[in-house]
Amino acid sequence: MRVATTLSSLAFISAITLAACQPAENKSEVSETSVARSGQVTSTGQAQIGGAYTLVNEKGETVTNETFLGAPQMIYFGFAYCPDVCPMALQKMAAGLEIMGEDGADIQPIFITVDPERDTVESLAPYVTANSFPDGLTALTGTREQVDQAMDAYKVTAIKVVDPDYPEDYTMDHSSIIYLLDDKGQFLGLFTHQDSPERIATNTKAYLRR
Ligand code: NI
Repeated sequence: MRVATTLSSLAFISAITLAACQPAENKSEVSETSVARSGQVTSTGQAQIGGAYTLVNEKGETVTNETFLGAPQMIYFGFAYCPDVCPMALQKMAAGLEIMGEDGADIQPIFITVDPERDTVESLAPYVTANSFPDGLTALTGTREQVDQAMDAYKVTAIKVVDPDYPEDYTMDHSSIIYLLDDKGQFLGLFTHQDSPERIATNTKAYLRR
């Protein structure tokens, strides 16, 4: 039973993998699936999502997964040059946390880059201060190996897409998932950039109450 549920949650994540930053059809179906499956994942508490990582924040400080224990977290993997999906996900996260009021203020929002080559400490420092992004957002980068370890822990994939005519302006097709963790770093559930702020707020409150 646990195995089946874990497999289905992982199958779901790979199903929406690479939906971001490229034209994707049936996005509304993805959103509906997300709610159904995220409930399923939570019911066992056994999904193997999350784990150890060591990265650097936008202030240049080394952080690990243990740095953030003691408060619930919302973690989103993306890249700062992303023109649409990543900002949308962070805006939805911000709006959801805002709706939650004081409960939302207790949650640590975290952005982890999938593109450490461009997303340096220096470039992430202004990124976290964007107007519509969550208050207190921290952005994490590192070496390619450090970032890969964090991505593996969260079953996140990203593929570099290069236009030969503009090699500098490459994009990244990547998973677009907001992970909710409890104050012990345990995975509770997930959202996508397609979920409304209201749904994020309501479901987050429900997850945290369990
Ligand atoms: Ni993106």
